Amino acid sequence: MKIDIVSIFPDIFDVLDVSLMGKATASQLLDLSITNLRDHATGVHKSVDDTPYGGGAGMVMSPEVWGNALDPLVTPGSVLIVPTPAGALFTQETATELAQAEHLVFACGRYEGIDQRVVEHYSEDTTVMELSVGDYVLNGGEVAVLVMLEAIVRLMPGFMGNPESLSEESHESGLLEYPSFTKPRHWRGLDVPEVLLSGNHEAIRQWRHEQSLARTKAMRPDLLAD
Ligand code: ADE
Repeated sequence: MKIDIVSIFPDIFDVLDVSLMGKATASQLLDLSITNLRDHATGVHKSVDDTPYGGGAGMVMSPEVWGNALDPLVTPGSVLIVPTPAGALFTQETATELAQAEHLVFACGRYEGIDQRVVEHYSEDTTVMELSVGDYVLNGGEVAVLVMLEAIVRLMPGFMGNPESLSEESHESGLLEYPSFTKPRHWRGLDVPEVLLSGNHEAIRQWRHEQSLARTKAMRPDLLAD
């Protein structure tokens, strides 16, 4: 998969070298390029933003600068992702869908966001997704992109050593994952649940399902309503 990220803070993405992503880049599953948006700014001040039409606080990122940066990267086969708190919620389902893509381009906005015509323009020939990682506001899209990438890349075909471990985790079945235990059997007065030592696979499966349901009901009742 080819991944392009455009940002005014390209150094934020240095962390990708040390995480799971470094492994994917080294194994050539991923071809990752970071573009500094400011390299595409014109004018003496290399400014990337301007005051909003209609008034209001903050600055809006210029469509001209974004157009200069994105034109060489975006093709009709790309998926252009614009992280924004005003986007659709990024979920495990979104991650699964994006893990199949050939080329993702992430456009990281700062300030009050990117002039909306950028999304409108690229939507004419390309799939464009405005995505939020949760109901809170970050200072910019960069950390949201790190979150999305970590969720997407581990689902890419060929990335996980044991793909079975993916099918049992939280959100894959619409439920939260059951609790896990390892050795020792007794720790600080707390014991591993008996059923997990029983060797009875059906009883273990049943217990884990009940735990998943109970945990989802307690922590995320909204998921059960779905
Ligand atoms: N940029 C700022 N806040 C964000 C959020 N919650 N999700 C995605 N991008 C963002």
